Amino acid sequence: MSAALLEKIQTLKKQRNAVILAHNYQPGEIQDMADYTGDSLGLSVQAAQTDADVIVFCGVLFMAETAAILSPEKTVLLPEKHAGCPMADMINAQQLQELKGQHPDALVVCYVNSTAEVKALSDYCCTSGNALKLTQTLPDDRGIIFVPDKNLGSFIIERTGREMILWPGYCPTHTWILPEHVAAARKEHPEAKVLAHPECNPDVRAVSDELLSTGQMLKFAETSNVNEFIIATENGIIHTLQKQNPDKLFFPATEKAICPNMKKISLEKVAWAMEDMQYRVTVPEPICTDAKRSLDRMLQVIPK
Ligand code: 13P
Ligand code: SF4
Repeated sequence: MSAALLEKIQTLKKQRNAVILAHNYQPGEIQDMADYTGDSLGLSVQAAQTDADVIVFCGVLFMAETAAILSPEKTVLLPEKHAGCPMADMINAQQLQELKGQHPDALVVCYVNSTAEVKALSDYCCTSGNALKLTQTLPDDRGIIFVPDKNLGSFIIERTGREMILWPGYCPTHTWILPEHVAAARKEHPEAKVLAHPECNPDVRAVSDELLSTGQMLKFAETSNVNEFIIATENGIIHTLQKQNPDKLFFPATEKAICPNMKKISLEKVAWAMEDMQYRVTVPEPICTDAKRSLDRMLQVIPK
């Protein structure tokens, strides 16, 4: 890794009064360099509260859009314009309008992994870190539409007992993790606890020990008296798990669990982003104001 490049990033950061936010699935060198690394909920809180003029978002488009909605007066930069989330693109505004038309009395909860247009048509937004807590606050006498992730949706149904109408979206990266991978990893590491993300398919969740957002995984690994873990989520998080817990061991359920979009960001692109002030992410009105309503509700439910 080039020390000169890291120095350049620091200099540009000062010149632009920028803050660098990175998701837990980013390449290791990006997580190490960022001012804050976290899960989608933690990153949204940071984006809403920062004093910086510029937010450089090392993640995917829906995360940068979320930052732009929460802090419309800031300049939000995504260092790679093609870093999207296939799950977020599995439902569009027209499809959600049609679904709402079929269930006119239902509340709409959207996973933060969604487009700004879908957030604007939703009543509430949530992340995997607060989905259970948020669902428990919803009135019992209303139906619930949950989009776009059928896996996070079925996890919420299992844990809360609330009926929900689910959209059939999913994360391709998490569906590459299979129960056979978990079984083989358990055989190799019989003392290990299996930590899986709720975006995994139900058959993987069923053979896991804990179902956690990426931020919750980091907390769990730190406070647990267990020393070995099998990780069933995007493998980028293993870098920070290992760094924060040098005496513990972390094994991926499968080496295949890599999100190609998360890996499109590089140190060079972060430097170029601040040099050229691109790629700027903005959300037009009235979508921005409507989407902010559902995101503000998400930020009111922060689990301890
Ligand atoms: P969290 O970090 O909020 O658990 O989200 C996982 C994810 O898939 C982000 O794209
Ligand atoms: Fe989207 Fe899955 Fe990649 Fe997260 S890991 S950005 S949900 S494709």
